[in-house]
Amino acid sequence: MAGLFLPGRETQNYLAESLCEVNKNPPRLFFYMPSFLTFFDTVSSDAFNRLDTIYRFYDMTVPDVKYRDNSAGGYYIHMTGLKPIKINDFMANPFQIWQREAMLLCAGDFESGKFNAMTVGWGSLGTMWRKPFAQVVVRPSRYTMKFMEKYNSFTLCLFPDEYREKVLLLGRISGRDGDKIAQSGLSPVKSETIAAPGFKEAELIMECTKIYFQDMDPAGFIDPEIDRDYPENDFHRIYYGRIEAVHGCETCSL
Ligand SMILES: Cc1cc2nc3c(=O)[nH]c(=O)nc-3n(C[C@H](O)[C@H](O)[C@H](O)COP(=O)(O)O)c2cc1C
Repeated sequence: MAGLFLPGRETQNYLAESLCEVNKNPPRLFFYMPSFLTFFDTVSSDAFNRLDTIYRFYDMTVPDVKYRDNSAGGYYIHMTGLKPIKINDFMANPFQIWQREAMLLCAGDFESGKFNAMTVGWGSLGTMWRKPFAQVVVRPSRYTMKFMEKYNSFTLCLFPDEYREKVLLLGRISGRDGDKIAQSGLSPVKSETIAAPGFKEAELIMECTKIYFQDMDPAGFIDPEIDRDYPENDFHRIYYGRIEAVHGCETCSL
């Protein structure tokens, strides 16, 4: 199965029933899309064997399974296995992607440990100069801008709703004032094609090479409403990145 897909009702029922079966005692299960997060009261090896079967049934690669303690006394099991997605198979709603407030922009170099990430809510995806691109906007006050300037790549990582608070933390505080990534508990991981890291918890990672930037020029604000976003005249710098690779969670709907 290529690309991202939202399992149909039948598939969802099958998954839900199968998972319930291994959790009969009592069958407490939260199975919700799009992040394919499941909650088990008890976790038995049986449950994991069953998951394995489900994945094989759907001809999906068995993903990394991540276990996390949960204060309610159970465990979250979050499938973290992301698969490469060919750009032409990549399906995403570009409005939801940005509006979900669940996206991190990360720039820098994973190997040297010099990178920073911040929450982003404005941007676009498309085709420019015959290449697929992701475009972001960064105000000069952001510490992340230093990394966007110094390094030639960045990632855009979209997270399941479960991680929303952690993602928003990176949008509230600055990396200039301390190690906010460590504070968030999110895990940077090496990218496949670029120096900037992605994040293990993400359900979608776009790896980009910087190809163009331009400072926003207020002379071009045709709609007067736009001015209101810049009371301090700290106009964004616009960056275009060529999308080099996309990795996504097969079961996520975007
Ligand atoms: C939901 C959300 C979306 C944001 N979108 C952007 C954005 O697109 N561009 C931007 O410059 N700042 C944006 N910010 C603000 C930065 O994420 C925030 O100032 C962050 O603390 C900067 O961190 P840094 O100084 O470590 O780079 C956003 C914040 C939030 C909460």
